[in-house]
Amino acid sequence: MAAMRQGRHRRGITGWAVRFCAAVLPLLLLLLGPVARASDGYSLWLGEPAPTPAANRIEAPAGSSSPTIALAMAELRRSLPRVPMPVRLVLADDPALGDEGFGLRIARSGKGQTLLITARRDIGLLYGAFALVRHVRTGGDPGELALTSRPAVPLRMLNHWDNIDGFVERGYAGRSLWDWWTLPDFVDPRYADYARANASVGINAVVLNNVNASAESLTAPYIAKTAALADVFRPYGIRVFLSARLSAPQELGGLPTADPRNPSVAAWWREKADEIYRSIPDFGGFLVKANSEGQPGPRDYGASHADGANMLAAALARHGGTVIWRAFVYADTDPTDRAKQAYAEFQPLDGRFADNVIVQVKNGPIDFQPREPAHPLFGAMPATRLAAEFQITKEYLGFATHLAYLGPLFAETLAAPTGHRPGQTVASTLSAIAGVANIGRDRDWTGSVFNQANWYVFARLAWDPSLAPEAVAREWIVQTFGAEPAVLAAVTPMMMQSREAVVDYTGPLGLAHLFATGHHYGPGPWVDDLARPEWNPVYYHRAGPSGIGFDRTATGSNAIAQYAPAIAARLARPETTPPELLLWFHHLPWDFPMPGGGTLWHELVRRYDRGVATVHAMRRRWASVRGRIDEPRWHKTDSFLAIQAREAAWWRDASLAYWMSLNHLPLPPGSAAPAHDLEWYRQQRFPHAPGNP
Ligand code: GCU
Repeated sequence: MAAMRQGRHRRGITGWAVRFCAAVLPLLLLLLGPVARASDGYSLWLGEPAPTPAANRIEAPAGSSSPTIALAMAELRRSLPRVPMPVRLVLADDPALGDEGFGLRIARSGKGQTLLITARRDIGLLYGAFALVRHVRTGGDPGELALTSRPAVPLRMLNHWDNIDGFVERGYAGRSLWDWWTLPDFVDPRYADYARANASVGINAVVLNNVNASAESLTAPYIAKTAALADVFRPYGIRVFLSARLSAPQELGGLPTADPRNPSVAAWWREKADEIYRSIPDFGGFLVKANSEGQPGPRDYGASHADGANMLAAALARHGGTVIWRAFVYADTDPTDRAKQAYAEFQPLDGRFADNVIVQVKNGPIDFQPREPAHPLFGAMPATRLAAEFQITKEYLGFATHLAYLGPLFAETLAAPTGHRPGQTVASTLSAIAGVANIGRDRDWTGSVFNQANWYVFARLAWDPSLAPEAVAREWIVQTFGAEPAVLAAVTPMMMQSREAVVDYTGPLGLAHLFATGHHYGPGPWVDDLARPEWNPVYYHRAGPSGIGFDRTATGSNAIAQYAPAIAARLARPETTPPELLLWFHHLPWDFPMPGGGTLWHELVRRYDRGVATVHAMRRRWASVRGRIDEPRWHKTDSFLAIQAREAAWWRDASLAYWMSLNHLPLPPGSAAPAHDLEWYRQQRFPHAPGNP
């Protein structure tokens, strides 16, 4: 009885306290200053509906309607903050706008001003609507608008590495967004949210399944599932592609061979393409990983990549489809240098690919490292359409947990001169840009709020490679967290320094591929026991008692000869090689004198220390915006930065312990000794690290 009474009493007090808090707390918080509304990150950079939505008139194009135009109208009504004039959508045949471009401008008449969004096609109107919303939400004056914009690259794609069992290879944001099991009957509304986010930044193509493809994706049930997704994406201007497994004619069709030169193989693919186009009339085409990391391909039959690509291209050409053929190949039969193999196999095929083939080249010659030089194939295949492939998911940059804004990485490659023609940059050679998606079923889509920025900046740069990554970061920050100057002042430098910090603590001065085996989580520069030489980190750093680095000059693998002469000449000497790529191209003694004075060893240590220090600085900046960013997103980022600080120190300490075991040099004064001995680092095991195939 007493206990019951006590219980009632307690409930009474608790109830009173709850009521008091509910009434008074919001008031208190209001008085204390701006506290952002709680967000779980689902709304991405698109934010919540505008607080004072455009009460203005939004006028549809005269005499035209389409699902895409309806989306453009809906977007303006939902997201455009109040602007002091009506907005009119106009379809006009202005060739300057291209197929996807748009114009935004003010028309003045006796009745006042009207804001015009003009485009040749309805997708341009949708892109224009998103651009107008972005302009106003990031503080632009609608009254000053006078711009036209069209994409620099026609095909701007996300490549999902999603398997049909729901696992995402190198995915760190949960399971696949595509619920293949319930498709096509259940079409999750989230698919439309995904398409809207992509359209807001101009993505116009998605590959739904992993490049390490299962032939089953091409069976009738999966074509029906793909068609259901294509139906959702179509009004947003997005075409679907599928990764195709080259041995599918054997696995699904029972043919004895998958040799692309065999007429029955070609006929099988023709029929398969016809079947797909019956369900998906605007199907984009196939992405193919062939003769790479165990995938089947034309080389199994002594045929070339061009033979394989052209056979598929013929099957798709009648429907307007495209073959995207990856140049990511390397084999242990070439003992000289993995970095040379894609060029060696593909460059001689220049001019031999059909018009509807695009060769997709990774941004650098190895594999999505935190820093690589631009791939030598860019500019070296003038008679072939090329795509650049970037990795948005951070397989080698700390998975979802480390904060690494990839704008500077993407921009660095896109702006790199090829040296083949005056003024030619990587971006100017491209017919397509592909990004390996970082998207999964996590509520915030990408595993962390800052990974959303990488999806965003990838797409913005694919549309306009000349954009400055810092300007895009600011644009993203304002749309994601609001326009508070204190937030911008703290978060912009955090983002802009973050990628270089990862380079510093994982592989400074051009070191690369020093990751632990398989999962690529954490350091493993000592690994030397894997079956193929080029799977081992020791293959890449070549460190020993007398020096460190991979000699890719004429005295070594001569990979520099794959670059245009002007670039190769600069890379031939350490003195004229950018310090960021020094050990990528040169093997140098530990006491090599560096430009700023000091030895190579001291400079290496300085950069490891700088990487760790930058992460601490990022943590301090983030701490300074507490209360200005909603607590859920602030707290998750804060926790992730703590993980990153711990792991940056781990990377630095493990790497230095290993280098010191080889060079027996002391650390420079003021640099702390590693926390553990080398053996401790070597013993770390992570069997459950995510994303590992
Ligand atoms: C890397 C990655 C693999 C992926 C491959 C590719 O090697 O680790 O998971 O399949 O790239 O791009 O095909």
